Amino acid sequence: MLTESPREQWGSKLGFILAAAGSAIGLGNIWKFPYIAGENGGSSFIIIYLICIAVIGLPVLVGEILLGRTTQRNPVGAFKALNGSKFWAGVGGMGVVAGFLILSFYAVIAGWSIGYIYQSISGDFFQYADPAKAADHFVALTKDVVWIVSYFALFMIITMSVVYAGVQKGIERGSKIMMPLLLLLLIFVMIRGITLPGSGEGLKFIFNPDWSHVNGQTILIALGHAFFTLSMGMGAMLTYGSYMSKKDSVLSSAIQIVILDTFIALIAGVAIFTSVFAVGLDASGGPGLIFHTLPAVFTIMPGGQIIGTIFFILLTIAALTSAISLLEVITAYFIDEKGWSRHKAVIVFGTVTFIIGLPSALSFNVLADFNIFGKNFFDLVDYLASNILLPLGGLFIAIFIAYVWKFDKALIALKDGSEKIFNKNPLIITLWQIFIKYFAPVLIFLVLLSSIGVL
Ligand code: PHE
Repeated sequence: MLTESPREQWGSKLGFILAAAGSAIGLGNIWKFPYIAGENGGSSFIIIYLICIAVIGLPVLVGEILLGRTTQRNPVGAFKALNGSKFWAGVGGMGVVAGFLILSFYAVIAGWSIGYIYQSISGDFFQYADPAKAADHFVALTKDVVWIVSYFALFMIITMSVVYAGVQKGIERGSKIMMPLLLLLLIFVMIRGITLPGSGEGLKFIFNPDWSHVNGQTILIALGHAFFTLSMGMGAMLTYGSYMSKKDSVLSSAIQIVILDTFIALIAGVAIFTSVFAVGLDASGGPGLIFHTLPAVFTIMPGGQIIGTIFFILLTIAALTSAISLLEVITAYFIDEKGWSRHKAVIVFGTVTFIIGLPSALSFNVLADFNIFGKNFFDLVDYLASNILLPLGGLFIAIFIAYVWKFDKALIALKDGSEKIFNKNPLIITLWQIFIKYFAPVLIFLVLLSSIGVL
């Protein structure tokens, strides 16, 4: 059953860009990107990553937003509208499921971030100048079931209240406030990092190419991260695109989203590594960099309590605008396909996501010894969603556009709102065609093979 009431739309193109950039910019940029860049050769990795974003990320992102804009539907409805087969509706359904899974563990990490705002304000972690002690403190906190579950619940409630308020009044309005604030706070933290004595080492670490670290695996890591950081392959961008007007350009919006996302990842890298090096700590902290190494950095550096508080506030904002887009996918599906009201969909599925996320939250304490395929529940859900479902979704989107919907038809749809750009640069059409027909399917397939251990 389809709803009768007119579908919501963004109030402006800027509103869409900020909301979509909000989805893209998240823990992936501020937590994940700096440490994987650090582990994989700094700027040589960044160069490969930029190529992956241009060759795979941008073309598939354009395609995903276009599917939503053309059909004005959620992921399942979009595939159904263009192709009647159950298989393709199932691909959309896979996106909705991936949305649940990602949100369920993403909100757990985001909860820690809120917890750490309090830790900074209260000064609790400012007794741990030694990262090993800061790490012990973090482990002790995550072992506390009440601590981890309550911050997880709090984060879910905040996410739900924004989505509950609707596309324009909730998501768009929220993004217009939060995104500029995020940028401002991050630039502030970066300037503090750069002005610390000894920060040059950090800049060298992140910008000096070191090609000895680069191999086939590096390329696959870069490509895999491109999906996660651009929120691609599970219908978040498709759903946001479905609220877009035909007058606005999908192509120029996608380019702006990619630029903003990349820019924020780079600033985050500079902010974090200049600070880490300036206080003489180890930059190869891996996934623990933010919650183990940074608290120690803030303890040592002058003004660290303020910078620490600001840092965890901005991390929470970044995570929030991403979580909102994840919940919106599920919500849009139940509104479009099942005729539910937005309010009912948000309350029911926000709660369901919280319940699905509980085993992830408990993976750090009660369920710590419970392993499936050698991974705890949290790692398993993260791996399944980020390394399998997202690339698989991206692969299907590329194949669908190129060979099922057919490139020529997609191109006609893409021209709506982008005529001027195409008339000026006809080469773009050829590039999009080559990338979406050949490069994207082949390269994404390789990423998938490597994820399941075949490569
Ligand atoms: N792009 C978000 C980040 O970088 C994560 C995300 C993935 C959000 C998929 C929505 C969909 O943190």
